Amino acid sequence: MPKRRYLMCRPTHFAVTYRINPWMDPTAPYDTALAVAQWTELKRVYAELGHTIEEIDPIPGLPDMVFAANGATVIDGKALAVQFRDAERADEGPAYADWLRHTGFDVTEAKAVNEGEGDILLAGDVILAGTGFRTSHASHAEVQELFGRPVITLQLVDPRFYHLDTALAVLAHGDDGKPVNVAYLPEAFSPGSQAVLRRLFPDAVIATVEDAEVLGLNAVGDGETVVLPVQAVALAEALREAGYKTVGVDVSELRLAGGGPKCCTLELRS
Ligand code: ARG
Repeated sequence: MPKRRYLMCRPTHFAVTYRINPWMDPTAPYDTALAVAQWTELKRVYAELGHTIEEIDPIPGLPDMVFAANGATVIDGKALAVQFRDAERADEGPAYADWLRHTGFDVTEAKAVNEGEGDILLAGDVILAGTGFRTSHASHAEVQELFGRPVITLQLVDPRFYHLDTALAVLAHGDDGKPVNVAYLPEAFSPGSQAVLRRLFPDAVIATVEDAEVLGLNAVGDGETVVLPVQAVALAEALREAGYKTVGVDVSELRLAGGGPKCCTLELRS
């Protein structure tokens, strides 16, 4: 099973000081030290699974920078830089693009709003691309042109599940000994997109709204093991029934900003 290479950003400056999704309440307390501890455990789990972790330096004043999935989309050594919808996160884009450039990736600037692997998920030979809240539909054509893979547009309809990676998880990638498969919450998608997902993934693991409400679908699969929030009990059971191992991690503090394990993880594909 191929090991994965992930980019992560320590939540040293994690905070909830603005509200750009329904999970964020800037008046509620948060605990940065606990966020760091939970994140450190997530990193340890990946290392134990045999994956390689790279780290980008966190920047003061960018409290959401921990969500590395939003830093870019990286496939075949090529990176599409991000362009955030919200001004609060705008400065994260160049920071990730610089890191990727210095690390040897071929970085292309984005013309339209796209929030990286938050909405753009490689699933075998195709790229699943969310739109409706953050990533613009226009960016899907840029993604297809750059990576030369078919892009499947998926329409998100529930503001709680504002990024594709909060509504759908790629479990196996096709290069890891299992057929490409996903888990998702049907209600998070428009009727047409639900039909597309049924056609593409007849064997998908269907999540419940309770699973999705603890960001259970914000999960990282490597074909063998799925790392997901420990609170997503029913989803973990369904994944095990479908033949995956599961590791539950508690990143409840990061959920206060609307993020989970996958949000903290940008896959670097050379
Ligand atoms: N507070 C961040 C935002 O709303 C959370 C990002 C979560 N990342 C993700 N890949 N879903 O942009």
